[in-house]
Amino acid sequence: EKDGYAHYMEKEIHEQPRALRNTMTGRIDETGQKVIFPNLQLSSRSVKQIEKIYIVACGTAYHAGLIGKHVIESLAQIPVEVDVASEFRYRRPLFAKNTLTIAVSQSGETADTLAAMREAKRNGSAVLAITNVVGSSIAREADDVITTNAGPEIAVASTKAYTSQLIAFYLWGMYLAQQKATMAPQEIAALLGKLKELPEQVAEILTHAKQLRHFAESIKDERQLFFIGRGIDFAVSMEGSLKLKEISYIHSEAYAAGELKHGTLALIEEGTRVIALSTQDALHEKMISNITEVKARGANVLGITHEDHLDLHRTVDDVCLIPKTDALLSPVLSVIPLQLIAYYTSVVLGNDVDRPRNLAKSVTVE
Ligand code: F6R
Repeated sequence: EKDGYAHYMEKEIHEQPRALRNTMTGRIDETGQKVIFPNLQLSSRSVKQIEKIYIVACGTAYHAGLIGKHVIESLAQIPVEVDVASEFRYRRPLFAKNTLTIAVSQSGETADTLAAMREAKRNGSAVLAITNVVGSSIAREADDVITTNAGPEIAVASTKAYTSQLIAFYLWGMYLAQQKATMAPQEIAALLGKLKELPEQVAEILTHAKQLRHFAESIKDERQLFFIGRGIDFAVSMEGSLKLKEISYIHSEAYAAGELKHGTLALIEEGTRVIALSTQDALHEKMISNITEVKARGANVLGITHEDHLDLHRTVDDVCLIPKTDALLSPVLSVIPLQLIAYYTSVVLGNDVDRPRNLAKSVTVE
Protein backbone atom coordinates (compact mmCIF):
# COMPACT_ATOMS: atom_id res chain seq x y z
CA GLU A 1 0.00 0.00 0.00
CA LYS A 2 3.03 2.27 0.35
CA ASP A 3 3.90 1.44 -3.27
CA GLY A 4 7.46 0.52 -2.34
CA TYR A 5 8.10 3.72 -0.39
CA ALA A 6 9.40 3.47 3.16
CA HIS A 7 6.72 5.74 4.60
CA TYR A 8 3.38 7.24 3.63
CA MET A 9 4.96 10.68 3.84
CA GLU A 10 7.56 9.76 1.23
CA LYS A 11 4.85 8.26 -0.99
CA GLU A 12 2.67 11.34 -0.63
CA ILE A 13 5.57 13.68 -1.41
CA HIS A 14 6.16 11.72 -4.60
CA GLU A 15 2.47 11.69 -5.48
CA GLN A 16 2.42 15.46 -5.77
CA PRO A 17 2.74 15.72 -9.57
CA ARG A 18 -0.38 13.59 -9.95
CA ALA A 19 -2.21 15.29 -7.09
CA LEU A 20 -1.63 18.71 -8.63
CA ARG A 21 -2.89 17.55 -12.02
CA ASN A 22 -5.99 16.19 -10.33
CA THR A 23 -6.67 19.52 -8.62
CA MET A 24 -6.57 21.22 -12.03
CA THR A 25 -8.69 18.64 -13.84
CA GLY A 26 -12.09 19.94 -14.95
CA ARG A 27 -11.30 23.49 -13.85
CA ILE A 28 -9.67 24.83 -17.00
CA ASP A 29 -11.81 25.13 -20.13
CA GLU A 30 -10.97 23.19 -23.28
CA THR A 31 -9.20 26.16 -24.85
CA GLY A 32 -6.84 26.28 -21.87
CA GLN A 33 -7.50 30.01 -21.50
CA LYS A 34 -10.05 30.22 -18.72
CA VAL A 35 -10.80 28.89 -15.27
CA ILE A 36 -14.19 27.24 -14.83
CA PHE A 37 -16.01 26.03 -11.73
CA PRO A 38 -18.99 24.20 -13.21
CA ASN A 39 -20.75 23.43 -9.91
CA LEU A 40 -20.42 26.78 -8.21
CA GLN A 41 -23.52 27.86 -6.26
CA LEU A 42 -22.40 31.46 -5.78
CA SER A 43 -23.83 33.41 -8.69
CA SER A 44 -21.49 35.24 -10.97
CA ARG A 45 -23.14 38.41 -9.71
CA SER A 46 -22.37 37.69 -6.07
CA VAL A 47 -18.79 36.75 -6.98
CA LYS A 48 -18.39 40.12 -8.69
CA GLN A 49 -19.61 41.83 -5.52
CA ILE A 50 -17.13 40.26 -3.11
CA GLU A 51 -15.33 43.08 -1.34
CA LYS A 52 -13.52 41.30 1.44
CA ILE A 53 -12.24 37.79 2.05
CA TYR A 54 -11.40 35.97 5.28
CA ILE A 55 -9.37 32.79 5.11
CA VAL A 56 -9.64 30.54 8.18
CA ALA A 57 -7.64 27.36 8.75
CA CYS A 58 -5.18 25.60 11.08
CA GLY A 59 -1.57 24.49 10.73
CA THR A 60 -0.45 23.67 7.23
CA ALA A 61 -3.81 24.68 5.77
CA TYR A 62 -3.31 28.10 7.43
CA HIS A 63 0.06 28.34 5.71
CA ALA A 64 -1.64 27.62 2.39
CA GLY A 65 -4.05 30.43 3.28
CA LEU A 66 -1.14 32.85 3.70
CA ILE A 67 -0.16 32.13 0.10
CA GLY A 68 -3.84 32.41 -0.87
CA LYS A 69 -3.84 35.98 0.43
CA HIS A 70 -0.91 36.96 -1.82
CA VAL A 71 -2.58 35.25 -4.77
CA ILE A 72 -6.06 36.74 -4.38
CA GLU A 73 -4.84 40.23 -3.53
CA SER A 74 -2.48 40.38 -6.46
CA LEU A 75 -4.72 38.74 -9.08
CA ALA A 76 -8.18 39.90 -8.05
CA GLN A 77 -7.38 42.98 -5.95
CA ILE A 78 -9.70 41.97 -3.13
CA PRO A 79 -8.39 42.56 0.41
CA VAL A 80 -7.82 39.30 2.29
CA GLU A 81 -7.25 38.57 5.98
CA VAL A 82 -5.93 35.19 7.04
CA ASP A 83 -6.74 33.89 10.52
CA VAL A 84 -5.81 30.85 12.52
CA ALA A 85 -9.26 29.32 13.03
CA SER A 86 -8.91 28.98 16.83
CA GLU A 87 -8.20 32.71 17.01
CA PHE A 88 -10.87 33.77 14.55
CA ARG A 89 -13.69 32.04 16.39
CA TYR A 90 -13.04 33.98 19.58
CA ARG A 91 -11.97 37.36 18.31
CA ARG A 92 -15.23 38.90 17.12
CA PRO A 93 -14.20 39.63 13.53
CA LEU A 94 -16.04 42.39 11.69
CA PHE A 95 -18.25 41.25 8.87
CA ALA A 96 -19.02 43.82 6.22
CA LYS A 97 -21.57 43.12 3.50
CA ASN A 98 -20.23 41.02 0.62
CA THR A 99 -17.63 39.17 2.65
CA LEU A 100 -16.58 35.71 1.55
CA THR A 101 -15.03 33.35 4.09
CA ILE A 102 -12.79 30.57 2.79
CA ALA A 103 -12.28 27.59 5.11
CA VAL A 104 -9.26 25.47 4.19
CA SER A 105 -9.00 21.95 5.58
CA GLN A 106 -7.51 18.75 4.26
CA SER A 107 -9.69 16.52 6.44
CA GLY A 108 -12.74 18.77 6.45
CA GLU A 109 -13.24 17.79 10.10
CA THR A 110 -11.00 20.16 12.06
CA ALA A 111 -13.12 21.41 14.98
CA ASP A 112 -11.73 24.94 15.11
CA THR A 113 -12.03 25.47 11.36
CA LEU A 114 -15.60 24.19 11.41
CA ALA A 115 -16.46 26.51 14.32
CA ALA A 116 -14.81 29.47 12.59
CA MET A 117 -16.81 28.89 9.43
CA ARG A 118 -20.04 28.55 11.42
CA GLU A 119 -19.24 31.87 13.06
CA ALA A 120 -18.81 33.40 9.60
CA LYS A 121 -22.12 31.94 8.41
CA ARG A 122 -23.91 33.24 11.49
CA ASN A 123 -22.67 36.67 10.53
CA GLY A 124 -24.08 36.44 7.03
CA SER A 125 -20.88 35.59 5.19
CA ALA A 126 -20.92 33.17 2.27
CA VAL A 127 -18.53 30.27 2.90
CA LEU A 128 -16.32 28.51 0.39
CA ALA A 129 -14.54 25.36 1.55
CA ILE A 130 -11.26 24.13 0.10
CA THR A 131 -11.00 20.53 1.26
CA ASN A 132 -9.64 17.16 0.27
CA VAL A 133 -12.53 15.13 1.66
CA VAL A 134 -15.79 15.11 -0.27
CA GLY A 135 -18.71 14.79 2.12
CA SER A 136 -16.74 15.96 5.17
CA SER A 137 -18.45 18.22 7.74
CA ILE A 138 -16.79 21.34 6.37
CA ALA A 139 -17.70 20.41 2.79
CA ARG A 140 -21.32 19.73 3.78
CA GLU A 141 -21.82 22.96 5.69
CA ALA A 142 -20.14 25.30 3.22
CA ASP A 143 -22.11 27.07 0.49
CA ASP A 144 -19.52 26.04 -2.08
CA VAL A 145 -16.68 23.55 -2.19
CA ILE A 146 -13.48 23.30 -4.15
CA THR A 147 -12.28 19.74 -3.62
CA THR A 148 -8.54 19.38 -3.95
CA ASN A 149 -8.73 15.78 -5.19
CA ALA A 150 -5.23 14.97 -3.96
CA GLY A 151 -6.22 11.46 -2.88
CA PRO A 152 -6.14 10.18 0.72
CA GLU A 153 -3.38 11.65 2.87
CA ILE A 154 -2.31 9.20 5.58
CA ALA A 155 0.91 10.67 7.00
CA VAL A 156 0.24 13.14 9.80
CA ALA A 157 2.62 15.65 8.20
CA SER A 158 0.70 17.19 5.34
CA THR A 159 2.45 17.47 1.97
CA LYS A 160 0.31 16.85 -1.12
CA ALA A 161 -2.72 18.40 0.59
CA TYR A 162 -0.78 21.66 0.99
CA THR A 163 0.42 21.91 -2.61
CA SER A 164 -3.02 20.98 -3.93
CA GLN A 165 -4.57 23.69 -1.72
CA LEU A 166 -2.16 26.12 -3.37
CA ILE A 167 -3.40 25.04 -6.81
CA ALA A 168 -6.99 25.57 -5.61
CA PHE A 169 -6.05 29.12 -4.56
CA TYR A 170 -4.42 29.89 -7.92
CA LEU A 171 -7.51 28.69 -9.75
CA TRP A 172 -9.85 30.56 -7.43
CA GLY A 173 -7.72 33.72 -7.66
CA MET A 174 -7.84 33.59 -11.45
CA TYR A 175 -11.56 32.87 -11.39
CA LEU A 176 -12.15 35.97 -9.26
CA ALA A 177 -9.89 37.95 -11.58
CA GLN A 178 -11.96 36.85 -14.58
CA GLN A 179 -15.20 37.90 -12.90
CA LYS A 180 -13.80 41.19 -11.65
CA ALA A 181 -11.87 41.83 -14.88
CA THR A 182 -8.71 42.61 -12.93
CA MET A 183 -6.60 40.54 -15.34
CA ALA A 184 -6.58 40.58 -19.12
CA PRO A 185 -7.61 37.29 -20.77
CA GLN A 186 -4.06 36.89 -22.15
CA GLU A 187 -2.59 37.27 -18.68
CA ILE A 188 -4.87 34.54 -17.37
CA ALA A 189 -4.01 32.27 -20.28
CA ALA A 190 -0.28 32.86 -19.67
CA LEU A 191 -0.55 32.12 -15.94
CA LEU A 192 -2.58 28.98 -16.65
CA GLY A 193 0.19 27.90 -19.02
CA LYS A 194 2.71 28.20 -16.16
CA LEU A 195 0.34 26.49 -13.74
CA LYS A 196 0.11 23.48 -16.02
CA GLU A 197 3.91 23.16 -16.06
CA LEU A 198 4.09 22.81 -12.26
CA PRO A 199 3.47 19.03 -11.99
CA GLU A 200 6.36 18.33 -14.36
CA GLN A 201 8.59 20.79 -12.50
CA VAL A 202 7.76 19.14 -9.16
CA ALA A 203 8.61 15.76 -10.71
CA GLU A 204 11.94 17.22 -11.84
CA ILE A 205 12.79 18.34 -8.27
CA LEU A 206 11.82 14.91 -6.97
CA THR A 207 14.31 13.15 -9.24
CA HIS A 208 17.06 14.73 -7.09
CA ALA A 209 15.27 14.07 -3.79
CA LYS A 210 17.99 11.86 -2.31
CA GLN A 211 20.54 14.70 -2.42
CA LEU A 212 18.70 16.32 0.47
CA ARG A 213 19.38 13.29 2.61
CA HIS A 214 22.99 14.51 2.97
CA PHE A 215 21.71 17.85 4.13
CA ALA A 216 19.43 16.11 6.63
CA GLU A 217 22.42 14.16 7.99
CA SER A 218 24.22 17.44 8.51
CA ILE A 219 21.45 19.06 10.60
CA LYS A 220 20.28 16.09 12.64
CA ASP A 221 22.20 17.08 15.79
CA GLU A 222 21.25 20.74 15.72
CA ARG A 223 19.18 22.16 18.54
CA GLN A 224 17.61 24.87 16.42
CA LEU A 225 17.43 26.16 12.86
CA PHE A 226 16.09 29.24 11.14
CA PHE A 227 14.13 29.60 7.92
CA ILE A 228 14.17 33.04 6.35
CA GLY A 229 12.40 34.60 3.39
CA ARG A 230 10.45 37.64 2.27
CA GLY A 231 6.90 37.95 0.97
CA ILE A 232 5.57 34.69 -0.35
CA ASP A 233 8.89 33.02 0.54
CA PHE A 234 8.28 33.89 4.19
CA ALA A 235 4.94 32.07 4.07
CA VAL A 236 6.68 29.02 2.59
CA SER A 237 9.37 29.28 5.28
CA MET A 238 6.66 28.96 7.93
CA GLU A 239 5.46 25.75 6.34
CA GLY A 240 9.03 24.39 6.07
CA SER A 241 9.64 25.17 9.73
CA LEU A 242 6.40 23.50 10.87
CA LYS A 243 7.19 20.38 8.85
CA LEU A 244 10.66 20.09 10.35
CA LYS A 245 9.43 20.63 13.92
CA GLU A 246 6.61 18.17 13.77
CA ILE A 247 8.53 15.15 12.54
CA SER A 248 12.19 15.77 13.49
CA TYR A 249 11.44 17.43 16.87
CA ILE A 250 14.21 19.94 16.16
CA HIS A 251 13.15 23.43 17.06
CA SER A 252 13.08 25.92 14.22
CA GLU A 253 11.69 29.31 13.57
CA ALA A 254 10.61 31.02 10.36
CA TYR A 255 11.46 34.66 10.12
CA ALA A 256 10.59 37.42 7.72
CA ALA A 257 14.15 38.21 6.63
CA GLY A 258 13.72 41.94 7.11
CA GLU A 259 12.73 41.42 10.75
CA LEU A 260 15.91 39.61 11.77
CA LYS A 261 17.70 42.67 12.99
CA HIS A 262 14.78 43.50 15.26
CA GLY A 263 15.61 40.68 17.63
CA THR A 264 16.31 37.23 16.23
CA LEU A 265 19.75 38.11 14.90
CA ALA A 266 20.86 37.83 18.54
CA LEU A 267 20.42 34.04 18.27
CA ILE A 268 22.71 33.65 15.27
CA GLU A 269 26.17 32.45 16.26
CA GLU A 270 29.06 30.51 14.76
CA GLY A 271 27.64 27.51 12.90
CA THR A 272 23.89 28.31 13.30
CA ARG A 273 22.07 26.65 10.42
CA VAL A 274 19.85 28.84 8.28
CA ILE A 275 17.70 27.92 5.27
CA ALA A 276 17.10 30.99 3.10
CA LEU A 277 14.51 31.14 0.33
CA SER A 278 14.97 33.58 -2.51
CA THR A 279 12.59 32.97 -5.39
CA GLN A 280 11.23 36.50 -5.90
CA ASP A 281 13.15 38.63 -8.42
CA ALA A 282 11.95 41.85 -6.84
CA LEU A 283 13.22 40.83 -3.40
CA HIS A 284 16.42 39.02 -4.32
CA GLU A 285 18.82 41.89 -3.58
CA LYS A 286 17.18 42.39 -0.20
CA MET A 287 17.54 38.70 0.57
CA ILE A 288 21.24 38.81 -0.35
CA SER A 289 21.77 41.54 2.22
CA ASN A 290 19.83 39.65 4.91
CA ILE A 291 21.84 36.50 4.18
CA THR A 292 25.03 38.55 4.41
CA GLU A 293 23.90 39.72 7.86
CA VAL A 294 23.54 36.16 9.17
CA LYS A 295 26.74 35.03 7.43
CA ALA A 296 28.61 37.85 9.19
CA ARG A 297 27.55 36.30 12.53
CA GLY A 298 28.87 32.91 11.50
CA ALA A 299 25.70 31.23 10.14
CA ASN A 300 25.91 28.31 7.75
CA VAL A 301 23.33 28.96 5.03
CA LEU A 302 21.51 26.75 2.53
CA GLY A 303 19.97 28.95 -0.16
CA ILE A 304 16.92 27.80 -2.13
CA THR A 305 16.55 29.62 -5.42
CA HIS A 306 16.19 29.25 -9.21
CA GLU A 307 18.67 29.55 -12.06
CA ASP A 308 18.33 33.33 -12.51
CA HIS A 309 19.79 33.89 -9.07
CA LEU A 310 22.96 31.83 -9.33
CA ASP A 311 24.86 34.77 -7.82
CA LEU A 312 23.54 33.42 -4.52
CA HIS A 313 26.45 30.94 -4.67
CA ARG A 314 28.77 33.77 -3.68
CA THR A 315 26.88 34.46 -0.45
CA VAL A 316 25.72 31.09 0.88
CA ASP A 317 27.39 27.79 1.80
CA ASP A 318 25.15 25.55 -0.34
CA VAL A 319 22.52 26.12 -2.99
CA CYS A 320 19.47 24.00 -3.75
CA LEU A 321 18.21 24.92 -7.23
CA ILE A 322 14.57 24.66 -8.19
CA PRO A 323 13.03 25.31 -11.63
CA LYS A 324 11.85 28.81 -12.47
CA THR A 325 8.16 29.63 -12.68
CA ASP A 326 5.97 32.67 -12.24
CA ALA A 327 6.80 34.40 -8.93
CA LEU A 328 3.33 33.74 -7.48
CA LEU A 329 3.50 30.04 -8.31
CA SER A 330 6.95 29.49 -6.77
CA PRO A 331 5.69 28.09 -3.41
CA VAL A 332 4.58 24.87 -5.11
CA LEU A 333 8.22 24.29 -6.07
CA SER A 334 10.13 25.82 -3.15
CA VAL A 335 8.22 23.83 -0.54
CA ILE A 336 9.31 20.50 -2.06
CA PRO A 337 12.94 20.64 -0.82
CA LEU A 338 11.64 21.74 2.59
CA GLN A 339 9.31 18.73 2.76
CA LEU A 340 12.22 16.47 1.79
CA ILE A 341 14.53 18.02 4.39
CA ALA A 342 11.93 17.41 7.11
CA TYR A 343 11.28 13.89 5.88
CA TYR A 344 14.93 12.78 5.69
CA THR A 345 15.81 14.42 9.01
CA SER A 346 13.05 12.44 10.68
CA VAL A 347 14.26 9.27 8.94
CA VAL A 348 17.93 9.68 9.93
CA LEU A 349 16.89 10.38 13.51
CA GLY A 350 14.88 7.15 13.56
CA ASN A 351 11.60 8.87 14.41
CA ASP A 352 8.14 7.54 13.65
CA VAL A 353 7.83 9.62 10.47
CA ASP A 354 4.17 8.99 9.70
CA ARG A 355 2.96 9.19 13.30
CA PRO A 356 4.89 11.89 15.15
CA ARG A 357 4.49 12.04 18.91
CA ASN A 358 1.54 13.93 20.42
CA LEU A 359 -0.13 14.62 17.06
CA ALA A 360 -3.24 13.31 15.32
CA LYS A 361 -4.13 13.44 11.64
CA SER A 362 -7.53 14.91 12.20
CA VAL A 363 -8.10 17.25 15.14
CA THR A 364 -11.80 16.99 15.89
CA VAL A 365 -11.55 18.46 19.39
CA GLU A 366 -10.86 22.06 20.28
C1 F6R B 1 0.84 19.68 9.61
C2 F6R B 1 -0.56 19.30 9.63
C3 F6R B 1 -1.52 20.07 10.47
C4 F6R B 1 -2.85 20.25 9.71
C5 F6R B 1 -3.88 20.92 10.60
C6 F6R B 1 -5.17 21.20 9.86
O1 F6R B 1 1.59 18.91 8.74
O2 F6R B 1 -0.93 18.38 8.95
O3 F6R B 1 -0.98 21.30 10.82
O4 F6R B 1 -2.60 21.00 8.57
O5 F6R B 1 -4.14 20.12 11.73
O6 F6R B 1 -5.76 20.02 9.41
P1 F6R B 1 -6.88 20.03 8.31
O7 F6R B 1 -6.26 20.57 7.04
O8 F6R B 1 -7.34 18.63 8.16
O9 F6R B 1 -7.96 20.96 8.78
